[in-house]
Amino acid sequence: MASSLAIAILAAGKGTRMRSSLPKVLHRLSGRTLVENVIASTALVNPTRKIAIVGYAADQVKETLATIPDLEFALQAEQLGTGHAVQQVMPVLEGFKGNLLVLNGDVPLLKPETIEQMLNTHNENGNAATILTAQMADPTGYGRVFCDDNLIVTEIVEHRDCTEAQRANTRINAGIYCFNWDALMTILPHLKADNDQQEYYLTDVIKDLSPVMAMDAPTSEIAGINNRKQLAEAEAVMQKRIKDELLLSGVTLINPESITIDATVTVEPDVVIEPQTNLRGTTIISAGCHIGPGSLIENSKIGPHTKAVHSVISDSEVAENGRIGPFAHIRGKASVGNDCRIGNFVEVKKSTIGNGTNAAHLSYLGDAELGEKVNVGAGTITVNYDGKNKHKTVVGDRTKTGANSCLVAPIIIAEDVTIGAGSVITKDVDADCLVFTRSPQKSIPGWKPKYLREA
Ligand code: UD1
Ligand code: CA
Repeated sequence: MASSLAIAILAAGKGTRMRSSLPKVLHRLSGRTLVENVIASTALVNPTRKIAIVGYAADQVKETLATIPDLEFALQAEQLGTGHAVQQVMPVLEGFKGNLLVLNGDVPLLKPETIEQMLNTHNENGNAATILTAQMADPTGYGRVFCDDNLIVTEIVEHRDCTEAQRANTRINAGIYCFNWDALMTILPHLKADNDQQEYYLTDVIKDLSPVMAMDAPTSEIAGINNRKQLAEAEAVMQKRIKDELLLSGVTLINPESITIDATVTVEPDVVIEPQTNLRGTTIISAGCHIGPGSLIENSKIGPHTKAVHSVISDSEVAENGRIGPFAHIRGKASVGNDCRIGNFVEVKKSTIGNGTNAAHLSYLGDAELGEKVNVGAGTITVNYDGKNKHKTVVGDRTKTGANSCLVAPIIIAEDVTIGAGSVITKDVDADCLVFTRSPQKSIPGWKPKYLREA
C-alpha cells in the first residue's frame, strides 16, 4: 500500500561555523538555498506535507522560504536537540497517518534516487524506521550505527558518547530517517536528555523501535555543510552533476570547469556555452543558442539561435536569432524581439525592442518602446530621467536615429522618421519627417592670427 509521506527538515540551528549573519540553511548552493536543495532531493517521492523546523532567525528563514510551494513551518524556539526539534512537528501532524521522512537542512547533495530507494526499502520491509548510513574512512564526529549482517539496527551512539571500542565502527548515521509516524509517536514524546550534551537526541528513539533497518548511501551524497569550505566543496560536486547532465543531454560546454550553471536553469539541446559564462536563476537558453565566452545571464529567457558574447542579460527576454554583444547589457524586464542586434556597449533597460531592430553601438535605451526595423544610430541616448521621474520614449517602425542623438522623454517619434546626427529631440515627431536640431556649420577662412602661423 502506498502510504502518505510527510517530510520534516531540521533547520533550526544557527550554523556557528559558517561565521555568517545569514542562518546556515539560507546559504546558497548552485542558486538555491540549502533548504531548497534538500526539498529537491524528495522530487521522486511526492511528499504530501512539507515542514521546516525553524528556530534561529526563524522570521528571516520563514520570509526567505515563503515562496516554496506548500512549505509549512514548525517553531523550535530553543534548540534542545534533534529529538526535541522533531517533537515540534507533533502538533502540526496531529492525526497524520503514514511515514515521516526526516531530513537535515544542511545535507544538500542527496540524490532523489537515493531517497526513493530508501522509501522503497522502508515500505517493502514494513520497517518502523529506516535510516540512511554510510561507511566513512574517518567517522570522527558522527553518530555510529550498530547493526547485524542483515542491516537490522540495534542502536545509534553519538561519537562523544561512544566507548573506545564503539568508535572503531565506521558505519555512520547520515541524519536522514524514515519513520512510521504511529510507531515514532509511541516513543518520541518520552525522550530523555541523559547524554553528554544534555540534548534530546532523535537517535535515541532507534533502540525502542523495531524493525529498524540501515541503508548505506554513497558518502558523497551525505556530506553535511558546517563551514564555507564544505559549502565550496559541495558546490563543486553540484556543478559537476549539473554540467555532466547537460553534456549528456546534448549541450556543448567548452572548458566546463570555467562555466557555472544554477540548478534552476534550463538549457535546451544543441546549445554551445563558451568559457567564463555563468547562467543563473530561472534562465532558459533555447535550442541553437551560442552563449559566451564571458557572459552572465540571470533570470532571463533567450530564444532559439541567439548569440551572446561578453554580455550581461538579467530579468529580460531575447527572442529568436538575436545577436547580442560584445559588451551589451540588457536588464530590468527588457524584451528584445526576433532578429535584433544589440551590440557593443549598448544598454537596454525596461524597454521593448521590435523585430529586426538594431542598436549596434554605444547606446542607452531606457523605458523605451521601439518598433520594428528601427535603426538606432551609434551613441543614441534615451534621456529618460528628469532627476525625479522616469519617462517613456516611443520610436515607430523603420525610424533611423542619427548618431549621437538624444531623445528627451517623454517623447513619441513616429514611423519612417530620420533623425539627423547630433540632434537633441525634445518634441514629438510626425511620420516620414527628417528632423534635426543643429547649429549651422560655419567655415572661417584664414582665421589664424600671425603669431600662430608657422614661420
Ligand atoms: C546528528 C546526529 C548524528 C549524525 C549527524 C549527521 C543526533 C543526536 N545526532 O549529529 O548521529 O551522525 O547528525 O550529520 O541527531 N537541529 C535543530 N534543532 C536542534 C538541534 C539541531 O534543528 O535542537 C538541526 C541542526 O540545525 C542541523 C541538524 O539538526 O541542521 C543536525 O544537528 P547537529 O547538531 O548538527 O547534529 P550532529 O551533532 O551533527
Ligand atoms: Ca550537535
